[in-house]
Amino acid sequence: MNVLLLGSGGREHALAWKLAQAPSVTRLYAAPGNPGIAEEAELVALDATDHPAVIAFCQGNSIDLVVIGPEAPLVDGLADSLRAAGIPAFGPSRAAAQLEGSKGFTKDLCARANIPTGGYVRTRSIEEADRALTQFTAPYVLKADGLAAGKGVVIAESIEQAEIALADMFGGGFGEAGAEVVIEEFLHGEEASFFAITDGTTVIPFGTAQDHKQVGEGDTGPNTGGMGAYSPAPVLTQELQDRVMAEIIRPTVDTMRAEGMPYSGVLYAGLMLTAEGPKLIEYNCRFGDPECQVLMMRYQGDLAEMMLSCARGELDPAAPEFAADTALTVVMAAKGYPGTPEKGGAIALNDAQGTGAKVFHAGTAIKDGALVANGGRVLNVTATGANVTQAQAKAYEGLDRVDFASGFCRRDIGWKEVAREAAHAG
Ligand code: AMP
Ligand code: GLY
Repeated sequence: MNVLLLGSGGREHALAWKLAQAPSVTRLYAAPGNPGIAEEAELVALDATDHPAVIAFCQGNSIDLVVIGPEAPLVDGLADSLRAAGIPAFGPSRAAAQLEGSKGFTKDLCARANIPTGGYVRTRSIEEADRALTQFTAPYVLKADGLAAGKGVVIAESIEQAEIALADMFGGGFGEAGAEVVIEEFLHGEEASFFAITDGTTVIPFGTAQDHKQVGEGDTGPNTGGMGAYSPAPVLTQELQDRVMAEIIRPTVDTMRAEGMPYSGVLYAGLMLTAEGPKLIEYNCRFGDPECQVLMMRYQGDLAEMMLSCARGELDPAAPEFAADTALTVVMAAKGYPGTPEKGGAIALNDAQGTGAKVFHAGTAIKDGALVANGGRVLNVTATGANVTQAQAKAYEGLDRVDFASGFCRRDIGWKEVAREAAHAG
């Protein structure tokens, strides 16, 4: 089959790498792609917001499947436009993508379907929000309702901080995304990510991971899109995974279908493992970045075939095959991230992949024939091992060969699990 992949980050490089290996793929195109994706796919200049142009390209190049990597085109309804033109797309419709596109929508769905999550109030003005705050205790969790590139969540330690954040949100600090603010109960526990693939009816689990959202070592400093991740997440035991499927994922998929918004694609659940069991923090309607990179290192199936069967509503209910190994990825970011990253910094990959690590490109560009930084998160150095400790050692071995003077990374990706493995061994 011929496949078109949309997106340009490390997630899409990992998807391109896996799609290029799929026996079912004849030709792989990517738009807009990046220099890493260019090694796996033929890059084409297409704007994902221009639906007619994407459809015309698909028709002109006999595309059998479009894989939509990021959330924005999904929330914007690109999958609907493609399906209306008879082109199979991996990714949910605009209505189903509300699971990521509106925090309030998801909270209301959890309430209707009795899905475990924190208590919440949806508010549409600062007065309403101030009143709602009195129902909660510190720390206060405030979320802009719409898409805010991972920056729409504020955890305020005091009422005063909460008031400042609310004034910013309702004052337009998050644009349209902040027209509504959801105030949530603070959940205590360890966070983990769970992935499922569904065609709207059939649901299969698709691996677990843990991310490192904060920019600084020891999980300190501002939130980012993710500074590293590993898969599987041993904290999500088989028993907990079964509970997540039964209590969170299946009721979501069943309710969405029953309400006329069948969800098709990957459903990424951000979970808090609380004393009472797993609770939903949020849904994403796409693979995580950088969680996708570690999932793809372990996935053993034909990714294109799986995605096409999902898009056609014919998903194979058999459990997908993953390597038992652990995969771990470390993000190399440009200095300044998650604020304004330095652009144009020189990168020499040297022979990082000679160590057995895989280097995925996230924000790179070729300038005057040389590889340079072109974004906040720049590279994802990824490796596998028998456990997190070994995968971590191999990832940093690869990373240490890379010269990227204007970049930085966390040196402790996987630290919680490395400590648990050491305690186990000791
Ligand atoms: P979200 O974008 O909804 O995933 O939120 C970003 C981060 O904020 C999460 O990864 C959590 O670390 C934290 N967070 C969000 N909601 C809650 C909550 N209800 N309780 C505790 N932490 C939360
Ligand atoms: N790494 C978090 C996300 O993709 O949302």
